[in-house]
Amino acid sequence: MATWTFLLKEFYSHKKMDPLFIIERFYTPGTKLHQVLVEHSQIVTKKSLEIARNLIHLNPDLDFIKDAAMLHDIGIYLTRAESIGCNGEAPYICHGYLGRMLLDEQGLTPEYGLVCERHTGAGITKENIISNGLPLPKRDMVPISLEEKIICAADKYHSKNPKHADKKITTIQIIEELEKINKNHAQRFSGWAEEFKL
Ligand SMILES: [Fe+2]
Repeated sequence: MATWTFLLKEFYSHKKMDPLFIIERFYTPGTKLHQVLVEHSQIVTKKSLEIARNLIHLNPDLDFIKDAAMLHDIGIYLTRAESIGCNGEAPYICHGYLGRMLLDEQGLTPEYGLVCERHTGAGITKENIISNGLPLPKRDMVPISLEEKIICAADKYHSKNPKHADKKITTIQIIEELEKINKNHAQRFSGWAEEFKL
Protein backbone atom coordinates (compact mmCIF):
# COMPACT_ATOMS: atom_id res chain seq x y z
CA MET A 1 0.00 0.00 0.00
CA ALA A 2 1.32 3.45 -0.88
CA THR A 3 2.45 5.42 2.17
CA TRP A 4 1.33 8.97 2.90
CA THR A 5 4.87 10.24 2.26
CA PHE A 6 4.95 8.44 -1.08
CA LEU A 7 1.64 10.02 -2.08
CA LEU A 8 2.93 13.46 -1.10
CA LYS A 9 6.09 12.90 -3.14
CA GLU A 10 3.94 11.94 -6.11
CA PHE A 11 1.82 15.03 -5.55
CA TYR A 12 4.79 17.40 -5.43
CA SER A 13 6.47 15.80 -8.42
CA HIS A 14 3.44 16.64 -10.56
CA LYS A 15 2.53 19.98 -9.07
CA LYS A 16 4.50 23.18 -8.97
CA MET A 17 5.78 23.79 -5.47
CA ASP A 18 3.50 26.12 -3.51
CA PRO A 19 5.13 27.18 -0.21
CA LEU A 20 1.93 28.84 1.05
CA PHE A 21 0.04 25.57 0.55
CA ILE A 22 2.68 23.76 2.62
CA ILE A 23 2.62 26.47 5.31
CA GLU A 24 -1.18 26.08 5.56
CA ARG A 25 -0.77 22.42 6.46
CA PHE A 26 0.70 23.59 9.79
CA TYR A 27 -0.54 27.17 10.28
CA THR A 28 -4.17 28.27 10.11
CA PRO A 29 -4.72 31.33 7.89
CA GLY A 30 -6.15 34.20 9.91
CA THR A 31 -4.12 33.40 13.02
CA LYS A 32 -1.44 35.75 14.35
CA LEU A 33 1.23 33.10 13.93
CA HIS A 34 0.33 32.45 10.27
CA GLN A 35 0.52 36.18 9.61
CA VAL A 36 3.85 36.61 11.45
CA LEU A 37 5.37 33.63 9.62
CA VAL A 38 4.13 34.55 6.13
CA GLU A 39 5.10 38.24 6.43
CA HIS A 40 8.58 37.40 7.73
CA SER A 41 9.09 34.69 5.11
CA GLN A 42 8.04 37.04 2.29
CA ILE A 43 10.49 39.70 3.52
CA VAL A 44 13.31 37.14 3.79
CA THR A 45 12.46 35.80 0.32
CA LYS A 46 12.61 39.31 -1.16
CA LYS A 47 15.95 40.02 0.54
CA SER A 48 17.35 36.62 -0.50
CA LEU A 49 16.42 37.26 -4.14
CA GLU A 50 17.97 40.74 -3.97
CA ILE A 51 21.24 39.23 -2.72
CA ALA A 52 21.09 36.41 -5.26
CA ARG A 53 20.46 38.76 -8.20
CA ASN A 54 23.72 40.56 -7.34
CA LEU A 55 25.52 37.21 -7.51
CA ILE A 56 24.38 36.05 -10.92
CA HIS A 57 28.03 35.22 -11.79
CA LEU A 58 27.82 32.48 -9.10
CA ASN A 59 24.67 31.06 -10.72
CA PRO A 60 22.34 30.88 -7.68
CA ASP A 61 19.15 28.86 -8.17
CA LEU A 62 16.56 31.64 -7.96
CA ASP A 63 13.52 29.34 -8.15
CA PHE A 64 14.84 27.23 -5.31
CA ILE A 65 15.64 30.33 -3.22
CA LYS A 66 12.11 31.68 -3.77
CA ASP A 67 10.49 28.54 -2.32
CA ALA A 68 13.09 27.55 0.28
CA ALA A 69 13.20 31.06 1.80
CA MET A 70 9.40 30.96 2.19
CA LEU A 71 9.72 27.68 4.12
CA HIS A 72 12.88 28.29 6.19
CA ASP A 73 10.99 29.01 9.45
CA ILE A 74 8.20 26.45 9.07
CA GLY A 75 9.28 24.74 12.30
CA ILE A 76 8.60 27.68 14.64
CA TYR A 77 5.14 26.52 15.78
CA LEU A 78 6.77 23.52 17.48
CA THR A 79 8.76 25.85 19.74
CA ARG A 80 8.03 28.19 22.61
CA ALA A 81 8.32 31.88 21.73
CA GLU A 82 5.35 33.70 23.19
CA SER A 83 6.31 37.10 21.76
CA ILE A 84 5.50 35.81 18.27
CA GLY A 85 2.68 33.47 19.25
CA CYS A 86 4.55 30.12 19.30
CA ASN A 87 3.22 27.83 22.00
CA GLY A 88 5.08 24.61 21.24
CA GLU A 89 7.24 22.55 23.56
CA ALA A 90 10.74 22.79 22.11
CA PRO A 91 13.22 25.60 22.80
CA TYR A 92 13.15 28.19 19.99
CA ILE A 93 16.64 27.26 18.79
CA CYS A 94 15.20 23.91 17.67
CA HIS A 95 12.96 25.43 14.98
CA GLY A 96 15.54 24.89 12.26
CA TYR A 97 16.07 21.15 12.54
CA LEU A 98 12.38 20.60 13.42
CA GLY A 99 11.48 22.46 10.23
CA ARG A 100 13.77 20.13 8.32
CA MET A 101 11.91 17.14 9.76
CA LEU A 102 8.56 18.63 8.70
CA LEU A 103 9.67 19.29 5.13
CA ASP A 104 11.31 15.86 4.81
CA GLU A 105 8.06 14.30 6.03
CA GLN A 106 6.17 16.30 3.40
CA GLY A 107 8.23 14.53 0.77
CA LEU A 108 10.22 17.57 -0.36
CA THR A 109 13.73 16.91 -1.64
CA PRO A 110 16.33 17.22 1.18
CA GLU A 111 17.75 20.60 0.06
CA TYR A 112 14.64 22.37 1.40
CA GLY A 113 14.97 20.88 4.86
CA LEU A 114 18.68 21.64 4.95
CA VAL A 115 17.93 25.34 4.48
CA CYS A 116 15.74 25.16 7.61
CA GLU A 117 18.30 23.26 9.64
CA ARG A 118 21.24 25.44 8.69
CA HIS A 119 19.76 28.94 8.95
CA THR A 120 19.70 29.59 12.72
CA GLY A 121 22.37 32.00 13.98
CA ALA A 122 24.92 32.05 11.19
CA GLY A 123 24.79 28.29 11.21
CA ILE A 124 25.76 26.27 14.28
CA THR A 125 28.73 23.93 14.39
CA LYS A 126 28.68 20.52 16.05
CA GLU A 127 31.45 21.75 18.35
CA ASN A 128 29.34 24.76 19.29
CA ILE A 129 26.37 22.49 20.05
CA ILE A 130 28.46 20.22 22.28
CA SER A 131 30.48 22.89 24.09
CA ASN A 132 27.39 24.98 24.89
CA GLY A 133 25.14 22.02 25.66
CA LEU A 134 22.61 23.23 23.08
CA PRO A 135 19.40 21.16 22.87
CA LEU A 136 20.12 20.13 19.27
CA PRO A 137 21.18 16.93 17.50
CA LYS A 138 24.99 16.74 17.56
CA ARG A 139 25.85 17.52 13.95
CA ASP A 140 27.11 20.47 11.94
CA MET A 141 24.27 22.80 10.98
CA VAL A 142 26.24 25.36 9.00
CA PRO A 143 25.15 26.62 5.55
CA ILE A 144 27.16 24.94 2.80
CA SER A 145 25.47 25.71 -0.52
CA LEU A 146 25.34 29.24 -1.93
CA GLU A 147 21.54 29.21 -1.58
CA GLU A 148 21.75 28.16 2.10
CA LYS A 149 24.24 30.96 2.81
CA ILE A 150 22.11 33.57 1.04
CA ILE A 151 18.89 32.65 2.91
CA CYS A 152 20.69 32.44 6.26
CA ALA A 153 22.23 35.88 5.70
CA ALA A 154 18.97 37.46 4.45
CA ASP A 155 17.08 36.14 7.49
CA LYS A 156 19.24 38.23 9.83
CA TYR A 157 17.88 41.50 8.39
CA HIS A 158 14.34 41.05 9.70
CA SER A 159 12.87 40.24 13.10
CA LYS A 160 9.63 38.28 13.44
CA ASN A 161 8.92 39.98 16.75
CA PRO A 162 6.09 42.50 15.99
CA LYS A 163 7.83 45.01 18.31
CA HIS A 164 10.89 45.05 16.03
CA ALA A 165 9.40 43.97 12.70
CA ASP A 166 9.51 47.49 11.20
CA LYS A 167 13.07 48.21 12.36
CA LYS A 168 15.75 48.46 9.72
CA ILE A 169 18.61 46.18 10.74
CA THR A 170 22.11 47.00 9.46
CA THR A 171 24.97 44.62 8.68
CA ILE A 172 27.04 46.13 11.52
CA GLN A 173 24.19 45.54 14.01
CA ILE A 174 23.89 41.91 12.89
CA ILE A 175 27.62 41.34 13.37
CA GLU A 176 27.50 42.97 16.83
CA GLU A 177 24.54 40.81 17.87
CA LEU A 178 26.16 37.62 16.57
CA GLU A 179 29.38 38.50 18.40
CA LYS A 180 27.44 38.49 21.69
CA ILE A 181 26.36 34.90 20.99
CA ASN A 182 29.52 33.49 19.48
CA LYS A 183 32.59 34.93 17.76
CA ASN A 184 32.53 32.25 15.05
CA HIS A 185 28.96 33.19 14.11
CA ALA A 186 30.03 36.81 13.67
CA GLN A 187 33.08 35.80 11.62
CA ARG A 188 31.02 33.56 9.36
CA PHE A 189 28.42 36.26 8.77
CA SER A 190 31.13 38.90 8.18
CA GLY A 191 32.60 36.65 5.47
CA TRP A 192 29.23 36.43 3.72
CA ALA A 193 28.65 40.17 4.14
CA GLU A 194 31.92 40.81 2.33
CA GLU A 195 31.35 38.17 -0.36
CA PHE A 196 27.73 39.26 -0.97
CA LYS A 197 28.47 43.00 -0.58
CA LEU A 198 25.86 43.41 2.17
FE1 LIG B 1 13.62 33.51 9.65
